[in-house]
Amino acid sequence: MKTVCLYYSRTGKTRSIMERMANMLDADLFEYTDGKDRSGAKGYVGSCIDSYRPLPQVEILGGEPEWDKYDRVIVSMPVWAEAPCVVGKAFLKQYSGKFKGDLHLVVTHMSKAGYGKAIAKAYGYSSVKPKSYLSLQTKNHDCGAEIRHFVKELER
Ligand SMILES: Cc1cc2nc3c(=O)[nH]c(=O)nc-3n(C[C@H](O)[C@H](O)[C@H](O)COP(=O)(O)O)c2cc1C
Repeated sequence: MKTVCLYYSRTGKTRSIMERMANMLDADLFEYTDGKDRSGAKGYVGSCIDSYRPLPQVEILGGEPEWDKYDRVIVSMPVWAEAPCVVGKAFLKQYSGKFKGDLHLVVTHMSKAGYGKAIAKAYGYSSVKPKSYLSLQTKNHDCGAEIRHFVKELER
């Protein structure tokens, strides 16, 4: 199984999780972005506002992966305003039709409760149905056990 992992991250938590996951799966790792600077308090407020605005145009840093090479595609994004972040929604809408492998989704969030509802919203932006998903609480929480469990399930 050859895997590609793709993520968007505003403050580095989703990036760190996907680096760990890609490392465990010996996967290729790509970052996608809409190119907007969302750092600091101003960036946080802007992200809230953007959550209710039209979807941005997204690009994959370093260029698009060769989708044919991958049997498995793992797409990750943070939750913003109870939904997948606007960059993640845009990514799924723009690129999911190109995936050749099975899709798996990973959302990260602050709250302890699992984010099934954000996942359900993400499904709405994807042209393929995800095969599985993982909802990870990042605040004061390492996520190592959940990542290992998810990877083990994928490899079964
Ligand atoms: C604009 C904005 C809205 C957010 N809304 C939520 C939310 O509704 N529920 C939640 O649990 N976390 C929320 N968060 C927290 C992030 O989802 C969480 O910290 C995430 O792991 C950050 O990932 P990152 O460091 O890769 O950007 C929000 C963060 C931002 C910036």
